[in-house]
Amino acid sequence: MQKIKIEGGHELSGTINISGSKNSVVALIPAAILSDEEVTIDNVPDISDVAALEEMLEHLNVTTTKSSEMLKINPSNMINKEIPEGISKKLRASYYFMGALLGKYKKVEMYFPGGCSIGKRPINLHLKGFEALGAKVKEKNNKFIITADRLVGTQIYLDFASVGATINLMLAATKAEGTTIIENAAKEPHIVNVATFLNNMGAKITGAGTDQIKIVGVDKLGSCFHEVVPDYIETGTYMIIASAMGKNIKITNAIPDHVEALTLKLREMGISVKTGPDYIEISRGSNLKPVNIKTQVYPGFPTDLQQPFATLLTQCKGKSSINETIWENRFMNLSELKKMGATTTFKSSKGYITGPTKLNGTEVTATDLRAGAGLIVAGLIAEGITIISDVEHILRGYEQIIQKLTEVGAKIELIQI
Ligand code: EPU
Repeated sequence: MQKIKIEGGHELSGTINISGSKNSVVALIPAAILSDEEVTIDNVPDISDVAALEEMLEHLNVTTTKSSEMLKINPSNMINKEIPEGISKKLRASYYFMGALLGKYKKVEMYFPGGCSIGKRPINLHLKGFEALGAKVKEKNNKFIITADRLVGTQIYLDFASVGATINLMLAATKAEGTTIIENAAKEPHIVNVATFLNNMGAKITGAGTDQIKIVGVDKLGSCFHEVVPDYIETGTYMIIASAMGKNIKITNAIPDHVEALTLKLREMGISVKTGPDYIEISRGSNLKPVNIKTQVYPGFPTDLQQPFATLLTQCKGKSSINETIWENRFMNLSELKKMGATTTFKSSKGYITGPTKLNGTEVTATDLRAGAGLIVAGLIAEGITIISDVEHILRGYEQIIQKLTEVGAKIELIQI
């Protein structure tokens, strides 16, 4: 079993380079099968979610070649067959094969996806959208069979601006007949990245990044070269780490606009954040003020940064609050922080943290990916040794996190127990 061991209290300085976005690449890989020719994706992060998707491609007889950060995907000999539960459950993003296979073959058989336990995570909006395009959805014992004689473009209103539903419907509609309009679409940077990729392959998508996306269906998609956008959640995580323990940390290959909500909250707290065209510079702050955050869809404060941010709130003087509006169960990290000495409470969608409190190293559990990132922040701040278990959650989403932190002076290692 792997665990992460951190000796806390060390000041961090130097440069941290941001990798390609997890939540973008996990959609780009399934999107690639819509092409009939080889496509190349660059800036692919080395994370276990990517490895799980490569396994799905192999199952579908799609050839992949990887060298460094470049992934070539060739679906020309692809076979559309049932995706077994053991593979689909490995990650949430396996559901993007629903939209991609439905778009390409008008038939998909697969099981309910996996992913972090942070809420109920239904996929009703995805399925309703497929049905609006003309598909029939059958579900039995967690298995979905989705078929269509024809997919025909239509107007779809999403009751919630769901990231997954927006991407899945773009994938299915790309090869539908006629025009599809997605209203109340999600606007996250990875939506734009996926739409650009599809357009590079020959799709006709406009409006990505706004709440109305228009997709004019095409018959064929071809080869292209595309880059994964820098990960704004990874960027934000390192900004939070720098705010807690950094001295002149420079975060490079970042897009400062994508983390504006976090930047403004850090400044409100009293931290100086300097931004350049593709970098951010931060040092730790003192006498930090408490702040209140409310998670919202992009460009609001991202739910995926709420848990790492909660750790920083333990160092602010006074009571801070978190209003989590996206997921029902994203406060498990607060119980772990309590074990380290934090003063935290939560009820339903509201969490409260009163500080400043000294954190002490102890044994804690990464209950999900971003909770795990929050515990890494805590371990770096804490006095003594922190041991984090269930680290496979963290390794699913952060490329070379141990190495990146070691390079700026952290005492952190992956240990085998
Ligand atoms: N929702 C529905 N029905 C649906 C789809 C969503 O009710 O059919 C609800 C969800 O239950 C949730 C809200 O809508 O309450 C938002 O869900 P969304 O579909 O936007 O989330 P997702 O696509 O499942 C992605 C990321 C998450 C991130 C959210 C929100 C991937 C693979 N996952 O999830 O990332 O929290 O968007 O930004 O892209 C993470 O990286 O740690 C992570 C959990």
